[in-house]
Amino acid sequence: MRNKELYSVDEIKNMSYTDFVGFVNQWNVPPGAFVTLNKWRVFGNITKESKLLEIACTTGFSSRELALNTGCSATGIDISKKSVEAAENNHKLYAPKANLKYLVADGHTYSNGEKYTHALVGAALRFFSNPQKALDHITNDLLEDNGLLLSCEFYVEKEIPKTLVEKAKKIFNMTVTQQGYKEVMKVYKGLTLLYEDRNTIEMETDEELEHYTASSIQKFDKENPGYPKEALKVMHDRLLEIKQMSNELRPYQRYNVLVHKKDSRIYPGRYTELF
Ligand SMILES: C[S@@+](CC[C@H](N)C(=O)[O-])C[C@H]1O[C@@H](n2cnc3c(N)ncnc32)[C@H](O)[C@@H]1O
Repeated sequence: MRNKELYSVDEIKNMSYTDFVGFVNQWNVPPGAFVTLNKWRVFGNITKESKLLEIACTTGFSSRELALNTGCSATGIDISKKSVEAAENNHKLYAPKANLKYLVADGHTYSNGEKYTHALVGAALRFFSNPQKALDHITNDLLEDNGLLLSCEFYVEKEIPKTLVEKAKKIFNMTVTQQGYKEVMKVYKGLTLLYEDRNTIEMETDEELEHYTASSIQKFDKENPGYPKEALKVMHDRLLEIKQMSNELRPYQRYNVLVHKKDSRIYPGRYTELF
């Protein structure tokens, strides 16, 4: 938070999408939320000995909740300062005993010389300017030999209408993935696939969207007392708009949950058939 000084309604309206998510401290999650974390925990064998790096951690959901559940240590990086501030705050508020560290850094280049047993990118790769470069860097410079990459990908099952793509671009400041399954999987070709499932997404009802949004803004109010009702309403409406937009895209989208291994005997080739 900015020296206890409150952001104005105009500043809140004009923040970039990623800064707004960090600012309101939305518990931004990978598709599937806790269900996906449990798949990564089980099929990625995350234990208290594991050393996890979450890349593009936003407000820290995956690293924080996995550290709480397993006792692993975790570092989270994100390019958005507001998101990293929120992740640090969430560490203090919701998991004070967990072994967590959050830093502002670019996933294309971040390195502090350490290697990790697990790298986690959520559904974030498509937000990078160069997903392949980021993935190669993670694999070559951040993962231990035999380390595991935990990720998710959204892909489209049928073409998203142009009007919807344009509408989403205004809200997310980026073009939503319009790639099909085979296309999004290309970046992983040097890695060994250990676990995958593919999922459809149930649309949320207006009541569900409203309950989530109202709860998130009530949480913000508790964490940041002093904001006037007008500002809280602007935050509520912007978060609801984001949720409604995501919901409108759901009929066109699928997502998978992935665990890949960097197997130094094989990388960057493939000796096993895909199926
Ligand atoms: C959709 S959100 C990530 C999703 C979420 N963390 C998850 O669990 O699926 C995209 C995030 O990527 C971050 N980001 C975009 N480019 C980045 C980069 N080059 N390095 C690090 N983070 C980046 C954004 O700031 C934003 O927080």
